[in-house]
Amino acid sequence: MKELILGIIGLGTVGSSVAKILHDNQSLIAARAGCAMRIKKGAVKDLSKSREIFDFPITNNVDEILDDPEIDIVVELTGGVDAPFEIAKKALRASKALVTANKAMLAYHRYTLQQIAGDLPIGFEASVAGGIPIIKALRDGLGANHILSIRGIINGTCNFILTKMKDEGAGFQEVLKEAQDLGYAEADPTFDIGGFDAAHKLLILASIAYGIDARPDDILIEGITQITQEDIAFAKEFGYHLKLLGIAKKDGDCIELRVHPTFLPKNAMLGKVDGVMNAISVVGDCVGETLYYGAGAGGEATASAVISDIIEIARTKSSPMLGFKTISNTLKLKPINAIKSAYYLRLLVLDKPGVLAQIAKVFGEVGISIDTFLQRNAKDKNHSVLLLSTHTCTEADIKLAIERISSLEVVKTSPVMIRIEK
Ligand SMILES: NC(=O)c1ccc[n+]([C@@H]2O[C@H](COP(=O)([O-])OP(=O)(O)OC[C@H]3O[C@@H](n4cnc5c(N)ncnc54)[C@H](OP(=O)(O)O)[C@@H]3O)[C@@H](O)[C@H]2O)c1
Repeated sequence: MKELILGIIGLGTVGSSVAKILHDNQSLIAARAGCAMRIKKGAVKDLSKSREIFDFPITNNVDEILDDPEIDIVVELTGGVDAPFEIAKKALRASKALVTANKAMLAYHRYTLQQIAGDLPIGFEASVAGGIPIIKALRDGLGANHILSIRGIINGTCNFILTKMKDEGAGFQEVLKEAQDLGYAEADPTFDIGGFDAAHKLLILASIAYGIDARPDDILIEGITQITQEDIAFAKEFGYHLKLLGIAKKDGDCIELRVHPTFLPKNAMLGKVDGVMNAISVVGDCVGETLYYGAGAGGEATASAVISDIIEIARTKSSPMLGFKTISNTLKLKPINAIKSAYYLRLLVLDKPGVLAQIAKVFGEVGISIDTFLQRNAKDKNHSVLLLSTHTCTEADIKLAIERISSLEVVKTSPVMIRIEK
């Protein structure tokens, strides 16, 4: 039986789990891959760090892996964008297959890497939703379908925070601190709670589903930092779940890509996914709706996806990285202002007669009709909080309405807007 030689760059949470599973499950993995696997060398940043003992040598010089002609597959598990991009390019230029879990790098550089790779395989199953095999589902399992939509809970930190806020009535900052104490959120949580991590993953999925090249700067990204208990109360009152979603939708020859907090109807399966778990709903034109659920992060779950790529490479040697041999030039990214949705607004207003009439007048002028309305007491007795939702309108119209409402004297803070998926 031929032996496949691996070099692993990065032996932290994911890398050390990959090494452990390759060791513990070696016979099973060899049987599935059709060949044995051997890690020849691992690379880390700081050799002086105390760490577990591996059954292969480790170095702090990545070139010892990249320049080694015996190594077939470079498994890149570091983090960041620029340094791993250099590692990935060098590995491919040395004719090595590449496996990576790095969504941030792929969000910016996936098409460049695909171009450099040519027919060399690049595996990146672990870059989206950790242990859920969503890349292979989209690329292979749903290969016969036009993908009509993808809606995903693809950031476990945000889902944990929103679930705790809903279940325990706690404030955003309090739950964020708890998430950090439990290791679910980084010391600097901006990447997760700002929606950027979910956006990176959405862009990767959109490439596979649509062959569309877009970067984080091109799409709508909103995080969960503005969510309060008032929004949760609205969801409970009107039968919604509040989730941070990554959404990709096909509309004619346009693709919508967006990440934002979203009210989902109570009966939507995605809405029931709580805690740190991830789930992705994909609708194909032949298959209808399919749903994928599982652990979106964690050493072993992510390593499971990394090793699935190694096995695939061992078996087939190549499959088109982003699922398309060429990038589509017929599909365009839909401009943000053309997106249509129903909307929820939270307004802090003076508590006096006629306020609602002034707000309703603005909606009427812009041509938006109000669907539901709820008033709650504010912290002080001179103000109240208005929670309202609209019927479907364009993003351009709701922004115009918000601009006009914000300039009303009776409205005391800039309205908070959340989109509603029907
Ligand atoms: N953790 C998860 O649940 C998860 C889930 C999905 C995807 N990912 C992705 O998987 C990748 C790895 O994540 P992780 O959580 O395992 O990170 P981690 O625990 O911080 O480990 C990173 C590893 O990379 C090494 N490293 C960093 N820079 C290096 C360099 N220039 N040269 C050689 N080694 C270097 C570090 O060395 P030292 O040990 O010396 O510091 C460490 O061993 C990231 O791209 C991440 O986004 C992680």
